[in-house]
Amino acid sequence: MNSQEKTSSLYHSVTIGNMTFDGNLFLAPLAGYTDRAFRSVCIENGASFTYTEMVSAEGLARESANTEKLLIRARNEEFLGVQIFMNDSSVSMRSLEKLLKYNPSIIDINCGCPVPKVVKTGAGSALMNEPEKIRKMVEELKEHTDIPISIKIRKGWNETSVNFREVAAAAVGAGVDMITMHARTRSMYYSGSADWDSLKELKDYTRKTAPSVIIFGSGDLFTPQSAKDMLEQTGIDGVMFARGAIGNPFIFERTKALLTGKPQEEPPLETRLQVMLRQLHLMGTYSGEQLACREMRKHAASYLKGLPHGARAKQALVQATTFHEYERVCDSLLNGTLIPLN
Ligand SMILES: Cc1cc2nc3c(=O)[nH]c(=O)nc-3n(C[C@H](O)[C@H](O)[C@H](O)COP(=O)(O)O)c2cc1C
Repeated sequence: MNSQEKTSSLYHSVTIGNMTFDGNLFLAPLAGYTDRAFRSVCIENGASFTYTEMVSAEGLARESANTEKLLIRARNEEFLGVQIFMNDSSVSMRSLEKLLKYNPSIIDINCGCPVPKVVKTGAGSALMNEPEKIRKMVEELKEHTDIPISIKIRKGWNETSVNFREVAAAAVGAGVDMITMHARTRSMYYSGSADWDSLKELKDYTRKTAPSVIIFGSGDLFTPQSAKDMLEQTGIDGVMFARGAIGNPFIFERTKALLTGKPQEEPPLETRLQVMLRQLHLMGTYSGEQLACREMRKHAASYLKGLPHGARAKQALVQATTFHEYERVCDSLLNGTLIPLN
C-alpha cells in the first residue's frame, strides 16, 4: 500500500449495529457544550456524527422537561447519538419509553464521567468498578430495542485498577455494538496524557473476539495530526473529538482533508468569526438572544484563543448581552479597531 492509500484508508464509513455513517470523525458528548447549536455547526463543518451531552436516565423516567430538552435535534441532524447516565439497568428500562420517542440513532451509556456528584450515585466512571452492572444495562437495552447500543468507558478507575478489558468483555458478551474509550483513568480526570496503547490493546482484543464491535478512541485529540496518529498507532475504527472541537469545529473537515491526502488549511479569521456568530444565532433561535449570548461566552473564548487581540475581544464579550455586541466585537477584530464595549 502506498502512503496515499494508507492515509485515505484511515477515513472511512463505519457501520454500528444497523446504522452506517459516511465517516469516522465523531463529536464526543461534552456536558455543557454539545447543545443543538454546537452540534449543528460541527455537522456543517464535517462531523460524521454527534452526541448529546450526558442525559440523566432518571430525569427522563421522571419526565423532567429540562432533561427532555437535551434530546431535541438540530435542523440538520438526521442522526443523533443520545448518551444516558444511570446507576442501574432498572433506570434505563424506566426511561426507555421516553427515550424512544426521540428516535435516537445510537444509545450510549456513560461509564466515564469522573464528577463526584455523578460518581457517588454509582453512575459514570463508578460503573468501571462494576462490569456486571454494565453487562446488565447493555443486555436489557439490547433486549428491548433494535437501536445500536454503545458504551463510553475509561481505562479504569485508577492506575491500580485498569480493567477496560474486563469491562469490554462484559459488554461484548451482552451484545454491545460499539465501545468508545477515553484512555485515561477516572483518577486522572482530564489531566496527564491519554494512554493510546490501551486503545490498541482494546482494538486487538475485539478484533479477535468480536470483530463487528466498533472501537472509537478519545483523549488528547487537539489537532488533525493527533487524530491521524491515533488512528495509525492503534488501528481503531474512528475518533471522537472533544475539547479539540470546542471553538474549533473546523477540526473535522481539516482532519478529513489530512486523512484523504488533500490540502488542509487553517480557516481564515473571517471564517472563524462567521462560524462563531452562526453558532450564536443558532443558539438564539433555540434559547433566545440573552441566554444565547451568555452561554456562547465559553465557546467564544475558545474561538478567539490565540487570535491577535483575542484576549481583548474575550474581555469585551464577558458582558455582551446582544447579538449586536458580538457582531461589533467581530467587526472590530476584522478591521483592527477593537475598542472595549462601553
Ligand atoms: C467539559 C467536558 C464535558 C464532558 N462531558 C462528557 C459527557 O457528558 N459524556 C462523556 O462521555 N464524556 C464527557 N467528557 C469527556 C469527553 O467526551 C472526552 O472523552 C475527554 O474530554 C477526552 O478527550 P480530549 O482529551 O480530546 O478532550 C467531557 C469532557 C469535558 C472536558
